[in-house]
Amino acid sequence: MKPTTRTLLAISTLYFAIGCGGSQPAPESAPPAAPSEPAPAPAPTSEAPAPSAAAPAEPAPAAAEPAKPSWNEMTKDQRKELMKTVVLPGMKTVFQELDAKAFADMTCVNCHGEGAKQGKFDMPNPKLPKLDPKDGFAKHMKKSPKVTKFMMEHVAPEMVKLLNVPPYDPKTNEGFGCFNCHTMAGNDCTSAQAAFVDAARTKYTTQAAYMMSSPPAISTSNPIMGTYTTTQLMSGATCANVRSL
Ligand code: HEC
Ligand code: HEC
Repeated sequence: MKPTTRTLLAISTLYFAIGCGGSQPAPESAPPAAPSEPAPAPAPTSEAPAPSAAAPAEPAPAAAEPAKPSWNEMTKDQRKELMKTVVLPGMKTVFQELDAKAFADMTCVNCHGEGAKQGKFDMPNPKLPKLDPKDGFAKHMKKSPKVTKFMMEHVAPEMVKLLNVPPYDPKTNEGFGCFNCHTMAGNDCTSAQAAFVDAARTKYTTQAAYMMSSPPAISTSNPIMGTYTTTQLMSGATCANVRSL
């Protein structure tokens, strides 16, 4: 039998497979939309007066409006639908208050970036201005007070309303706010963050070394050290983008 070198190959192709993910047709293959109507509740059988019949009959849920899923519960397709029918029209009006001309033809691309044309809707969008939140966005208040204020007073609150999600709460660091759209201006990672990435990073070895070493080469007790560089790809990146790095 031929000694197998496949595993090494597989490991190295894996990298490219991950890198090339962006060129695949958008992962829009979303799960089939959840049925919009609740399954009919088992009809209360009138002719079966079980011992429990004494208990108050359960309200028939079928009569009520099907509860609308919250943003968090929505499937990708439902989110897309909400974006098309509620968010884009609503936010277009808002952004036009800021600049009627610039946002006359607002589309998904204004928020999601060019990737939206290929069905990539990841947020936040690194192509939007990167924000420095220090001292209440002082840097941005100084540079573009009008837009920054408008973002705080209109854009973020209106999105909260349209998505029907809780607003950002600085106490818990949760909720919808500036950083659901914008990315943060880059600060260096803290050493704890760097250590976390280092401990969790992919390690490469040869099949031979892996087979011979005990415990296996890829283990915490037998780490393989080295350095690597990561590059964040723009949303909608293609294989060509990866190769050009
Ligand atoms: C005003 C800005 C804005 C516009 C315009 C906009 N979106 Fe969004 N969209 C967002 C934000 C912000 C999120 C992420 C919300 C969150 O953080 O949960 C989002 C999320 C989504 C998601 C869910 C992504 C996921 O991973 O679940 C889809 C799909 C989507 N948008 C599609 C669209 C489509 C299609 C359009 C155009 C018809 C559009 N959006 C227009 C801001 C926008
Ligand atoms: C729904 C998405 C969304 C949210 C939420 C949002 N922004 Fe924006 N922001 C945008 C878009 C889109 C632009 C780009 C506008 C343009 O094309 O000129 C922008 C532009 C900006 C700019 C650039 C101003 C300039 O021209 O120099 C600043 C600063 C900014 N936002 C700050 C904020 C702050 C602060 C918050 C939170 C209070 C916030 N944004 C929330 C979408 C958003």
